[in-house]
Amino acid sequence: MPIGKLIALEGGDGSGKRTVSQRLKDAVDHTEQFYFVREPGGTRLGDKIRSVLLDTEVTTVPVEELLLFMASRLALFREVVRPKLLQGIHVVTDRLDASSYAYQLYARDELGLEDMFRHIRRRYVLPLDPGVTDWLHPYYIFLDLPPEVGLKRKCQVGLQNHFDTRELEFHQKVREGYLHFVRGERHYKVIDASRSLDDVYEEVRVSISQITGIEIPCLQTVADTPK
Ligand code: TYD
Repeated sequence: MPIGKLIALEGGDGSGKRTVSQRLKDAVDHTEQFYFVREPGGTRLGDKIRSVLLDTEVTTVPVEELLLFMASRLALFREVVRPKLLQGIHVVTDRLDASSYAYQLYARDELGLEDMFRHIRRRYVLPLDPGVTDWLHPYYIFLDLPPEVGLKRKCQVGLQNHFDTRELEFHQKVREGYLHFVRGERHYKVIDASRSLDDVYEEVRVSISQITGIEIPCLQTVADTPK
């Protein structure tokens, strides 16, 4: 049986990722061909790590953050993502390692961590099983928009965590980091997320339909605000 495709929805804060992935989920609800996850979290360990990472009273330096995000990711891949892919199910993840590269490495001027990041990624995230010759090549869909637009959207809906409250310059570097990372990958698509959520959803829907060969239905329109 062919393995499922791994599709990562990536994007800065307020890019509409969560709304788009919720809408995709609703659209494919009746099929068993897709599974949706979000990072950090999705396992018992990952959920605990998530609450530490989003706790404003916990202070961290980039290497600590990176290791926490990666530990959450590794548990998610071991317990959920890899088994689903091996069953031929397509996995759509709300964030993957482009986020670690953008937030913990690039935007924090910590590219010295890149070797460790790449090593863990190759050794533990991308292999399908210890003996395989083939690796996963995720399909990155990057919802790109100027950070000032994203932050404004997030403020409007009052959904900020301490990752969102950093200054604009930081978010500009996050954006650059994403572009830098995905351009080095085998499969990626950059989508202009400053348009309406309906337009963004449509482009994501068509891309995923092409990647998987499964026609994802259009859904009725949603309110034009990110969740
Ligand atoms: P979350 O509440 O899930 O927000 P969002 O809807 O924006 O995904 O917060 C996750 C935060 O964690 C987000 O600000 C980005 C950050 N993050 C990293 O810094 N590195 C990572 O590897 C991941 C997966 C997320």
